[in-house]
Amino acid sequence: MATGSEEPRLRVIWTDPVTSRKGYAVIDRMVNGLAGGGTRMRAGVTLEEVERLARTMSYKNGAFNLPGGGAKGGVDIDPHDPEARGMLSRYVRAMTPLYRSGWGTAEDLGVTQELLNEVFAEQGVGMTVQAMLDRSGDAAAAGRRVAQGLAIKVEGIGLADVIGGYGVAEAAAAGAEHKGWDLKGMRAVVQGFGSMGGSSARYLARHGAKVVGVIDVNGAITNPNGLDVEKLLASRNAHGEVDRKALGRDDKQGSGDSWLDIDTDILVPAAIGDVLTAANAGKVKARMVVEAANIPTTDEAQEILFKRGVVVIPDYVANGGANAWWWWTLLGVIEADADQSFKKVHDVMHETVKAMLERADRQHVSPRQAADELSMHNLDQLASTLGEDASGAQLKAVTA
Ligand SMILES: NC(=O)c1ccc[n+]([C@@H]2O[C@H](COP(=O)([O-])OP(=O)(O)OC[C@H]3O[C@@H](n4cnc5c(N)ncnc54)[C@H](O)[C@@H]3O)[C@@H](O)[C@H]2O)c1
Repeated sequence: MATGSEEPRLRVIWTDPVTSRKGYAVIDRMVNGLAGGGTRMRAGVTLEEVERLARTMSYKNGAFNLPGGGAKGGVDIDPHDPEARGMLSRYVRAMTPLYRSGWGTAEDLGVTQELLNEVFAEQGVGMTVQAMLDRSGDAAAAGRRVAQGLAIKVEGIGLADVIGGYGVAEAAAAGAEHKGWDLKGMRAVVQGFGSMGGSSARYLARHGAKVVGVIDVNGAITNPNGLDVEKLLASRNAHGEVDRKALGRDDKQGSGDSWLDIDTDILVPAAIGDVLTAANAGKVKARMVVEAANIPTTDEAQEILFKRGVVVIPDYVANGGANAWWWWTLLGVIEADADQSFKKVHDVMHETVKAMLERADRQHVSPRQAADELSMHNLDQLASTLGEDASGAQLKAVTA
């Protein structure tokens, strides 16, 4: 049985014949012959980063009792590069045997679901979660549900792009509730304003939190009285960058590096990994960090924040709503319906965060340690019930 210290099942290093740049794929572990995890595009992404992200995906599936192991893909190119689209398409062609045999993927940093759907279609691979569809017993019905789910727009933004951030805001709400804080009026700073960061900010604001800072790749936008989140969202380009012409009169611009100087109660890292480190964890002003990004906090920083009493809701719990939504939709646990999707994410997120924080309090450990234990326990149980390799058995919902 796999444990947290085992080697991943598979590591792939691919060289693009056109640009000579690298692409990576890692399958951390399999459950029932399946592994799920997004594909990111970022100049400088490494095999090590992809491996850590694949491990995070295993924990993510365990946390929400989803019947798959963890995987991840990484394409080493700036998404703005004119070669980016072509390289992604060639990468998808090269990884086709993995998609066919058990890896289901989705959007991640630097890659929209729309773009991924396009390149999957052009390479004739089917849907990005084709492996799961093929095992669902009724691939056509499962595929229809996913396609219908992906077509749903929520106030101008795709459901798949907002559901993850909605979950982040609910994780914050559940964390605040556990601590006896009122989310209404608490200040929030969100680093990254793409799929995850943008929707985290939207739904935190809907809870009455005051979003006093957002940071995209071009820098920080701040206002101690609160930013007009909807206006900034409407101005974004496809890369999640805010058009500075949309700024309000009192909004200020600063450098991205200044994000920890902004006075806030809640900090939401929602961009790249390893942004909270031993070197800057002492500077965190927030009382709660809600990790919308994957692996934003190093182990040393986790330790420092825990000792300082800062509540950190771990990545694979806080941002797990997006991944869970895919599974629940394709398994038919929920229909392709926005209200059902929000309700399910709301209920499961509150339950999961509550169980994690109560366990952490009881055992005097960090929320992450409590979540790791709960999550690995679930995943080991799933693997022992369903097997690690494809058994030919039909994929079934184990959650309801
Ligand atoms: N999209 C999903 O479904 C999903 C689900 C779970 C977790 N995540 C994680 O959330 C994070 C963001 O993913 P996304 O899909 O929202 O990406 P995205 O490409 O939609 O948006 C990324 C945002 O981060 C900003 N950014 C990029 N580099 C930055 C930097 N160095 N400093 C500050 N801002 C920077 C970009 O300008 C953009 O606003 C990643 O860690 C990803 O793994 C994504």
